[in-house]
Amino acid sequence: MKLWGGRFSKELSADVNEWAASIGFDQLLYREDIEGSIAHAKMLAHQGILTQEDAAAVEAGLLEILDEIEAGTAGFSEENEDVHMNIEALLTEKIGEPAKRLHTARSRNDQVATDTRLWVKNDILEVQSLLVDTKRSLVNLAKGYTATILPGFTHLQHAQPVSFAFHLLAYYQMFDRDAGRFWDVYKRTDVMPLGAGALAGVSYDTDRHFTADLLGFAEVSANAMDSVSDRDFIIEYIAAAATCMMHLSRACEELILWSGQEFGFVEMDDSYSTGSSIMPQKKNPDMAELIRGKTGRVYGDLMAILTTMKSLPLAYNKDMQEDKEPLFDASQTLKGCLSVYAGMISTMKVNEEAMLAAAAKGFMNATDAADYLVSKGVPFRRAHEIIGKLVAYCIEKSLMLEEMDDELLGQIAPEFGADFREKISLKACMDAKDSEGGTAEERVKEQLAAAEAELNR
Ligand code: ARG
Repeated sequence: MKLWGGRFSKELSADVNEWAASIGFDQLLYREDIEGSIAHAKMLAHQGILTQEDAAAVEAGLLEILDEIEAGTAGFSEENEDVHMNIEALLTEKIGEPAKRLHTARSRNDQVATDTRLWVKNDILEVQSLLVDTKRSLVNLAKGYTATILPGFTHLQHAQPVSFAFHLLAYYQMFDRDAGRFWDVYKRTDVMPLGAGALAGVSYDTDRHFTADLLGFAEVSANAMDSVSDRDFIIEYIAAAATCMMHLSRACEELILWSGQEFGFVEMDDSYSTGSSIMPQKKNPDMAELIRGKTGRVYGDLMAILTTMKSLPLAYNKDMQEDKEPLFDASQTLKGCLSVYAGMISTMKVNEEAMLAAAAKGFMNATDAADYLVSKGVPFRRAHEIIGKLVAYCIEKSLMLEEMDDELLGQIAPEFGADFREKISLKACMDAKDSEGGTAEERVKEQLAAAEAELNR
């Protein structure tokens, strides 16, 4: 018979039971469920609602069940629907009577909300540690390339020369904001719903702060109805995961482009590449593509939970059981992608010559050439026009700006001097961008130092 079977004269149909059971996925919450139940029993005993002996029996029994689950010897069944009732049934089998008192002053509604919040809190710590690894990989790579020039793009057209380190540190900033977002989620997840009961609170003299202290929650929730209805923390978690996946996907898209023959800026290590079953010459950046592809799944997880929650009347509805698979999937996907990405960039080969050769194309020093004329007193609009014409001339003659001969330059504008060529070298152009946060080598070294200080904090 079901734990709730008292009111019923007929069993749930076997098909329906199997279809509705969540034990297949919510068993991931077993540790948190046991932790929550032990704390709950201790609180009940502390308040004189349960005897100390019963609470001690509950704790000992649950700890044994924990070991059995981890050893793979505990038997979960769909008959018992979900992780909460499975563990309660195992406990009842093991210790009898005291197990039946555990669910006093508690509902599965506040129980599942508590378990899931505990799980999300733990998981965010794992994500944070992977984000630190990712940021460290970017910084370690960037250190070697503060003077390595590659084209900076806008519209995927050559725009201005930047350093490879500068480009990598742009991603550092994105992952750093992701970490900040996850900490924000952590703060709002760190609120204990246990004690809300089914929806209205409970009629026992409980001490929710006592339980919260045992479970390491910073606060207890303020409104019982909200406590069992709210899944914002899951939505926020998946939104943060989706944003982080978007960053990973952009980074991977660049790696894919850069490892193609047209760019040749990087080469993925063999340990992160695969070949083709038909084309012997192929070496494909599959892992970067897979991260880009998995981004779609995590967006799907976010859409799924948002849609599940959108019209639910207060308080708990069974729909909410659908919160777990998107949550677990987003977590597993994100964590896998972060660790593969960090490994991939730490092992890839960087082709500085290809970067420099690409940077030499596309007149990326045209803005600096105009700035040069401005420094000689030419108004910017006129300088823009002169350099524009010069670029058109160079395209026609297949020349670079720095290959123009002095005499011709002098005819175009008398302001061109002998220092022109040196002032528009790629390195000079890059180092001229020395505004705070710019790509000048000195500025990038500052950004690196700040990132390292942050990582060593
Ligand atoms: N397995 C359920 C879930 O994940 C647990 C809560 C069930 N509560 C209830 N009254 N049916 O949502």
